[in-house]
Amino acid sequence: MIDLVVVGAAEAATLSGGPVPRCGPALGDLGLVHDAYVAVDGGRILVVGPMATLPRDWRQAREVYDAKGQTVLPGFVDCHTHVVYAGDRTGEFRERLRGVSYAEIGRRGGGILSTVAATRAATVDQLVAGARPRLRRMLAAGTTTAEVKSGYGLTTADELKMLDAIARLDEPVELVATLLGGHEVPMEARAGPEHYVDLVVNEMTPAAARQGIARFCDVFCETGVFDAEQSRRMLQAGLAAGLQPRLHADQLTACGGAELAATVGARTADHLEKVSEDGIRAMADAGVMGVLLPGASFLLGIEHAPARHLVDAGVAVALATDCNPGSSPIESMAVIIGLACVALRLTPEEALCAATLNAAWALDVHGRVGSLEPGKQADMIAIGDRDHAAIPYRFGSNLVTAVWKRGQRVV
Ligand code: NIG
Ligand code: FE
Repeated sequence: MIDLVVVGAAEAATLSGGPVPRCGPALGDLGLVHDAYVAVDGGRILVVGPMATLPRDWRQAREVYDAKGQTVLPGFVDCHTHVVYAGDRTGEFRERLRGVSYAEIGRRGGGILSTVAATRAATVDQLVAGARPRLRRMLAAGTTTAEVKSGYGLTTADELKMLDAIARLDEPVELVATLLGGHEVPMEARAGPEHYVDLVVNEMTPAAARQGIARFCDVFCETGVFDAEQSRRMLQAGLAAGLQPRLHADQLTACGGAELAATVGARTADHLEKVSEDGIRAMADAGVMGVLLPGASFLLGIEHAPARHLVDAGVAVALATDCNPGSSPIESMAVIIGLACVALRLTPEEALCAATLNAAWALDVHGRVGSLEPGKQADMIAIGDRDHAAIPYRFGSNLVTAVWKRGQRVV
């Protein structure tokens, strides 16, 4: 007897077969099976197929879930978040609505640094307790795997504390940790930012690698934060310590972030609102994935990344919430998929692939999650509609009716 069979799904989006990550025309290939069942055993997908081919004895699974014409998809992979933090920046949101820019708030020591002050003052337990309800809401909205960055500590001890909090978050949402030591120049180093870069390179990065929680390293490469040369030094230190580089690139200004990502062989370059033509070409040539964060550009009121152009140039793209207390408190991948269709002009199929299989590639977990293929983790969601396009179309509604993590029903 097998553990679980989901029967009667109007559609199952398998994302099976073909190259990973998906780029160009293949980005829109969801591998749909109509009138489908999904069989699960030992926490893994056994097979997804049409109801007409469901073996008789599999109808007697330990758990039978009648999807009653709903759509089944892989759980969303949110590949860029900052959900571990302390403090509150609602006041800054009000200021931005009055016309003060995100960069201006940062220059006067608010923004990221205000979260840094609150996060330094918090204990590991407080950070864990603060993140839990965010992760529960993300799970309820269909996210089954998420990346979480440090970056609000900006001392070695406080960055390790943040990574420790990520490791202690034993939630159904599976977490992948990133060291973001180069998120901002801390107040005490404003007179000599080079010394802070030295600290990240010589002390913080090796210490995080020894701690063994982070798998990636990341830097906010931006005018007035870290320039391309400083970013390069921090990412190469990560690489030397065994952390794969990623990069906040070209969000507010074109400052060579995409080009740097290509030069250091980063796995992803994220944001890209202001990416240059040369940057796009360099990413395509080097196989750097673009992670698009339309929630941040929407809530900051800045122009969106040239998503169509990136896709047409052959860059593989993924989507993420960027969930953080400043630029994008959005927790729902469905909201991001809606924005991706309307603001970035991706098709529903492209956006769903970018939010599942390609996002899994961004985190180097595509061998286990991101698609409904035999042998992969049974991380699945059911949504209350016959058509997967309802996810972007019914914008702002949570259509998720069931979530399974490794075959266990968690919502
Ligand atoms: O990805 N751009 C830099 N970092 C975050 C924002 C962090 C914050 O404002 O607290 C981002 O948008
Ligand atoms: Fe970010």
